[in-house]
Amino acid sequence: MTKSLFENVSLNSDITLSNRILMAPLTRCMADDDLVPTQQMADYYAKRADAGLIISEATIIRADGQGYPNTPGIFTAEQIQGWQRVTHAVHNKGGKIFLQLWHTGRVAHPHFYNGDTVLAPSALKVEGTVPRMRELEYITPTPLSVCQIEQLVKDYAQAASNAIDAGFDGVEIHGANGYLIDQFLHYDSNHRDDEYGGNPENMSRFALSVLDAVSERIGANRTALRISPGAYFNVLPDARDRKVFDYLLSELSDRHLAYLHIGVFDDSLEFDYLDGRVSDYVRKNYPHTLVGVGGFSADTGLAAINQNRFDLLAIGRPFIANPDYISKVQQGDELVSYNDDMLKELI
Ligand SMILES: Cc1cc2nc3c(=O)[nH]c(=O)nc-3n(C[C@H](O)[C@H](O)[C@H](O)COP(=O)(O)O)c2cc1C
Repeated sequence: MTKSLFENVSLNSDITLSNRILMAPLTRCMADDDLVPTQQMADYYAKRADAGLIISEATIIRADGQGYPNTPGIFTAEQIQGWQRVTHAVHNKGGKIFLQLWHTGRVAHPHFYNGDTVLAPSALKVEGTVPRMRELEYITPTPLSVCQIEQLVKDYAQAASNAIDAGFDGVEIHGANGYLIDQFLHYDSNHRDDEYGGNPENMSRFALSVLDAVSERIGANRTALRISPGAYFNVLPDARDRKVFDYLLSELSDRHLAYLHIGVFDDSLEFDYLDGRVSDYVRKNYPHTLVGVGGFSADTGLAAINQNRFDLLAIGRPFIANPDYISKVQQGDELVSYNDDMLKELI
């Protein structure tokens, strides 16, 4: 049967979406200096509440996870209150919103948290400087001890619980785009020889531990995950990564997440070691609800859904340019094109 974008979709017994279009997580660097979401952010999200589900911009679980200026947090009482403002505004307009839980790992910078170390799987530095803060060079990270890894798992679970206190409908764990969890999943950034490195099972251990701890705390129905099997951002591809994601996806297939979300900027990119596009690779290896993203319009996304490449469509940049993206698509109105200058203010 042909699927439509504008029909209810049930993720599980707790969550039904009013349509198949998700607002992708989009970092905007607009929280206040205490990393508290503002009223302006509440207005911005409320304008987009007719998306089937909003996934918030990536939100740090603790201070040393910060890699960009003014990215929001979910670890202080003020931040939880700030997010309550956002979730109330979205719910008042009938929307649903998940919080994306984030730690940037080796992409963090001590400048933001007055620290002197950056924690990551291995002492392998990212080359270059912090975007939007070009004078800051990345530093060589300190490899996490097992004890520190176990603490991080607890901190993700606490952040998920804080998200529920803040009124979110669930959380998406950011395991994509070259940040902390993804750094464990690729050979380029993980050179460990303990139980967190060296083979697919060990390299997947941190991602699965975080997922299980969060699911246990807030329920699997309210827990989602984003992953990037195709290394394309802050991590170099390595053909051995394929086996890591084969293993991870087989483990994820046995769990009952709200959904699995692909992290990629352009889903037409083909990766040799995945035998093609990321979405095709994940679809073959994961039988449950899958969210596709990366360079789609509503039309091309719907075609991909009807080709059974994924079930739900996440839209990123067009949602920045068009707060009324959903109604424009529904009515067939012309969309405003996105450009990077639009990142300077929230509309
Ligand atoms: C300005 C900007 C900020 C982004 N921030 C995040 C983020 O916080 N978390 C994340 O997982 N992806 C982030 N992404 C990636 C998007 O979620 C999405 O995958 C990407 O933009 C491709 O989708 P699109 O072609 O529909 O824009 C960001 C992308 C852009 C352009």
